[in-house]
Formats: sequence, structure tokens, C-alpha cells
Amino acid sequence: MSVSILVGSQWGDEGKGKIVDILSDRFDVVARYQGGANAGHTIQIGDKQYILHLIPSGILRDNVKCVIGNGVVIDPKALLEEIEFLRKNNIDIEGRLFISHNAHLIMPYHKLLDSINESGKQKIGTTGRGIGPCYYDKYARKGIKIVDLLNRDDLEAKIRQNIEEKNNLLKKVYNHDELDVEAIIKEYTAFDEAIDPYITDVSSLLNNAISDNKKVLMEGAQGALLDVDHGTYPYVTSSNPTSGGACIGTGVPPTAISNVIGIVKAYTTRVGLGPFPTELTDETGEYLQKQGAEFGSTTGRPRRCGWFDAYLVKYSTTINGIKEAAITKLDVLSGLKEIKVCVAYEINGQKLKHFPTDVCKLDNVTPVYETLAGWDQDISKVEEYNNLPSETKDYLDFISKKCGFKNSIVSVGPRRKETIEL
Ligand code: GDP
Ligand code: IMO
Ligand code: MG
Repeated sequence: MSVSILVGSQWGDEGKGKIVDILSDRFDVVARYQGGANAGHTIQIGDKQYILHLIPSGILRDNVKCVIGNGVVIDPKALLEEIEFLRKNNIDIEGRLFISHNAHLIMPYHKLLDSINESGKQKIGTTGRGIGPCYYDKYARKGIKIVDLLNRDDLEAKIRQNIEEKNNLLKKVYNHDELDVEAIIKEYTAFDEAIDPYITDVSSLLNNAISDNKKVLMEGAQGALLDVDHGTYPYVTSSNPTSGGACIGTGVPPTAISNVIGIVKAYTTRVGLGPFPTELTDETGEYLQKQGAEFGSTTGRPRRCGWFDAYLVKYSTTINGIKEAAITKLDVLSGLKEIKVCVAYEINGQKLKHFPTDVCKLDNVTPVYETLAGWDQDISKVEEYNNLPSETKDYLDFISKKCGFKNSIVSVGPRRKETIEL
């Protein structure tokens, strides 16, 4: 068995793109299993930066096949822009990109409803990419799938029916202009022509690859604490970034999975609203934001920053089954005299026994910190684990022990070569 799942262990933006790019050198296939263009996965090669939203981060490796699974929600505009971006950068995707016929399509009304929801009282701080409303239609069994593009008459009828319903909602509830049915049909039929060569039965492709002893890497988007079931609901995304989502989102069975790799940022960040017990709103928080260039890869929004939360990541390790971890952005901590790590939560002086995903509870916890010594040296040029300062190694050991995984990769900069393998 040779299927590994790579998951974000915190609230997203842990550096999944960089690590998938590094690892994909050793894999035959990389598959995205959930989320959509809300994701922004960055790969930096030399000074050239690539930000991918829908296409798996293995695409920069010529011999790797890249698959968009049934669990992903696809925005045609975002996908076509990404394909164009790759072509302009001379990255050949022909015969290497495969899109599930069962993936759902983001429709213009999904983006519109996302922005309408965000202007109301129940704001989440979404990326505005139409993710929630698209998954809503999927589970309400009203969604439009890639496979629907293949049958023009049915497609038109489905789009008309959906838009009629949405127009009713837009007009009567939100007092908003109605959507133009003809323009939307035209846009989506043109999209069909552009992506027709890539449409595939992804479950068969992946299961055949597994039978042929090919190595498959599943690339999660977002992070465990943004999981709709296991995260800090309602301040989550509308899919399952946790490792369990990889099977649902691709049609690969759980028995085929051999490893789960957690991507673990050496501190914590979060974009959007929701509880964040170790958040720092002081100059240390600003330092992390500045040193780590913590601005969203998709929306450009500043990311909230805070200390590493080992209590939270331990929860993530448990629900994902993380065996090994890539610790990222360790270089960002250089220059801090002391580094704090949250090891438990308390409410009214009582230590909690389990990580609380209930936001009311999480809003009221007091983090219990242990303080470790910092280091001054610039570690971004260090190539071997043994050459890291002793304080840095102590920090890594502490994280690994508290969270319950083995550290297998340490990332000390955004570029490919700024990576230490253990
Ligand atoms: P993803 O969504 O998990 O793929 O992460 P993002 O790409 O949204 O955000 C991670 C950011 O950190 C990107 O700008 C990366 O180029 C950068 N990055 C990744 N690893 C490191 C690292 O070890 N050190 C530093 N300084 N930057 C890193
Ligand atoms: P990657 O894959 C960080 C957050 C949004 C918001 C919440 C819901 O790059 O790690 P949505 O648009 O999904 O309905 O927004 O989830 N969010 C992310 N935060 N990284 C991401 O992806 C995210 N994708 C969504 O900020 O709080
Ligand atoms: Mg990101």
C-alpha cells in the first residue's frame, strides 16, 4: 500500500503547498480531495512563486499526474485562470491533469450568496469563493456536477431550474437583481469545451494506480480545525480537510492508506473569524506576522498570529492519525528570546480533559504555557539537522513529544532547498 495523506494540522496555511512539492518528487500521483479555490498553496522555486488554488501542488514535477477529486468544488473561472497561468509558465499539463466527473461546480449564484451571507449577522470571514453555498447545494442534492456538462440538454434544464429557484431567493429575500440564465449557460458550456479532455473517472484512475503499485499522495486543503465536523464550527469551511475526507473525496478506500503526514506550522495562524486561544495581539504577534509574511495567499488578508498550540495539534494528531510531521516556518521564530508553547487549557482553574471544539467553551479557555529558550541565529541556510542551534532542536523535540508524532521534515524557508529531512 502506498497512499499517503497530507493534512494541514491547524487552521490552514501551514505550508502544505511547499511540502507537497518537495514530496511529490517521490510520488506518481498527487490528488486534491476537498475544498476549492478558497485554498492558496504556495510553492517557491528560487525567486519564482507559484500559488495554486485548485490544481494539486505536484504539477511542477513533470512526471507526476495531478488529480482533482470528486470532493473538490470547482470554480470554472479559477480553474481556467490557473491552467492559463501554468501554460504561460511553460508547465505542461497535457496528459497530467485529471478532473473527476463527480466534482461539483461553483456557480455564479454560489459566490453571490457567499457574499450576501457574509454581509449579514452570521459572518464567518470566508474567502468569498462560493464554497459554503456550493457544498450546501451538493448536500441538498441540487448541485451541478462536472458530468452534467457532458449532456447539454440536461445541463440547460438543470441550470434553468436552479437559477429560477435562486432568482426567487435573491429577489424576494435579498431584494437583489435576478441572474441572467442565458449568460450562465453560455459560460458553462464554453467551460465544458475547455476542460473536456481532463474529465475522468478519478476513483478508477486512482485505484488502478494503486493496483499498479504507483505511489499516491493526497493533498488536503485548509486544516483540521477548519473541518466542518471536527473543527471550530461554525467558524470552519464546508468540507472535511481531515484525513478521513481523503477517502470520501477521491473514492480510494481507507484500507489503501498507509501514512498520514501532518503539516505543522511552528506557531499558529488563522484567517477569518473564530476562537484562537493562543492569539497574540501584541508586538510578538506583529513580529510573527512580519517575519512570516502572514498574508493570505488567496485573499491577501492579514493572518492572525499566535504561539504554537500543542494542545490543539495533539487533538489534530489524534483525529487525523498523523504519524509524521513536517514542521514549517521554523525560521520565523529566530530572534525571539523566549518561545511559549500552549500545553493545556484551563477554565476556572480546572484543566480540560479534551480539546473543546465548542466555540463558546474555546472562547473562554486560558492557555497553559511552557516557556522554552529562543535562538538568535538565522537558520534558513542550515542544511542538516545537527547544525541547528541546540535551542531549536529542543523546541522541535518538545513539539514532537507533546503532539505525539515523529518529525520527518523541518522547513526553514519558503524555497525548495530550505528544507531539512530527518
Ligand atoms: P498552504 O495553504 O498550507 O499551502 O500555505 P500558504 O502557501 O497559504 O502559506 C504558507 C506561506 O509560507 C507561503 O508564502 C510559503 O511560501 C511560506 N513558507 C512555507 N514554508 C516556509 C518556511 O519554512 N519558512 C518561511 N519563512 N516561509 C515558508
Ligand atoms: P489553505 O488550503 C486558511 C478559512 C476562511 C474562513 C473559513 C471559511 O490555503 O490552507 P470558506 O471560504 O472556506 O467558506 O471560509 O475558512 N479558510 C482558510 N484559511 N487557509 C485556507 O486554505 C482556507 N480556506 C478557507 O478564512 O475563516
Ligand atoms: Mg494557503
